[in-house]
Amino acid sequence: MTAAPMHLDHLLVGGRVLTCAEPAGAPLVVHDDLVLGVAGGRLAYVGVGVPATAGPTPVVDLGGRLVTPGLVDCHTHAIFAGDRAAEFALRAAGASYLDIAAAGGGIAATTTPTRAASDDQLAASCTARLDRALAGGTTTIEIKSGYDLTCAGEERLLRVVAAVAAARRGRQQVVPTLLCHLIPAERQADRAAYVDELATVLVPAVGRTGLATSIDVYCDQGAFTRAETERLLRAGLAAGLAVRAHVGQFADLGGAELVAGLGGWSIDHVEQIGPAGIAAAAAAGTVAVMLPGACVQLRLPVPPVAALRAAGVAMAVASDLNPGSSYCETLPVQMWLATTHYGLTVDEAWRGVTCHAARALGLRDVGVIATGARADLCVWDAVHPAEVPYRYGAQAPAQVWVAGARVAG
Ligand code: NIG
Ligand code: FE
Repeated sequence: MTAAPMHLDHLLVGGRVLTCAEPAGAPLVVHDDLVLGVAGGRLAYVGVGVPATAGPTPVVDLGGRLVTPGLVDCHTHAIFAGDRAAEFALRAAGASYLDIAAAGGGIAATTTPTRAASDDQLAASCTARLDRALAGGTTTIEIKSGYDLTCAGEERLLRVVAAVAAARRGRQQVVPTLLCHLIPAERQADRAAYVDELATVLVPAVGRTGLATSIDVYCDQGAFTRAETERLLRAGLAAGLAVRAHVGQFADLGGAELVAGLGGWSIDHVEQIGPAGIAAAAAAGTVAVMLPGACVQLRLPVPPVAALRAAGVAMAVASDLNPGSSYCETLPVQMWLATTHYGLTVDEAWRGVTCHAARALGLRDVGVIATGARADLCVWDAVHPAEVPYRYGAQAPAQVWVAGARVAG
């Protein structure tokens, strides 16, 4: 009996392949003998040598270069209008993020131009950011709403994200998230009524329309309290959304325990997280998302990386692309900060922007080179995986492949 012929659209040979598929705790291995076979936008074959059952198939030689999964940016605020360069200058001169926010700047300063922008303007500026992310190797990108702060406006932002996502199909995968970001100034007098409106109007509407796959709440000093966060996250669960939260950027309000207790996908920032939060995240398999760009820029203390590692909490690394604390589209620069400033190992940085970032988004078929995964790949002018964070600011992939097609380089 002969094996059934395997149809492949093309074969990729000659790469030094970092699959990021090793089990937790095992070192990542570079394979220089792996051949990748693409069919229908997915990896149909990952193995040593050309499969005997493949018929005549076009072959692409990757020339001994490092090949990794396409990068996954699991935390961005890529849809907004305007910029806050003036705040950057104030902070450079010594002002603090929370002081600027208390004086009417911060997130509130981005809601005014965002509300005033047309759908087309928002889509165009978001698309330009996504193009820069793609050039840096990001093949899957999460985008949060969060800069309108009204129910109708947040839904509009998610509709624009959906339109951008549709336009980028085949070029970059977009994952939309509903973010409850802040209580706007005009609703501060009755914050309970605002939270109630979000929980009973916006969250169920987003669940019904499928405009987001998860709900994220900013649970911190100056944003939502732990009790408000719990109300919103439970409303999200009831609406069919997965649960995530910004926690412990400035203060530990117990958000990590809350999210982990609800079986949430991720806790993000975590500069301030205590032993109880770390233990809860480890037990629940909740991913801790490191946002070193925002941490450095706001001159915050680094998260307790050694304790997270010791507890076995999976760590992701993301850009936190936003106009206030981290206007950066590219993940290699975040890998540099994660290794040099946070003390992640090079392996942890790679897992952080691939398999662990995918987990933070509830995705299993990206962030890894394995049979059945999407054929989303980066080819780097590098031999060793350390070269990407090492040559900071200079590293962009030589080629980017999405769903088996070369989209950049
Ligand atoms: O993740 N921390 C909350 N939200 C963003 C900052 C948003 C802004 O300043 O515009 C963050 O860092
Ligand atoms: Fe954020």
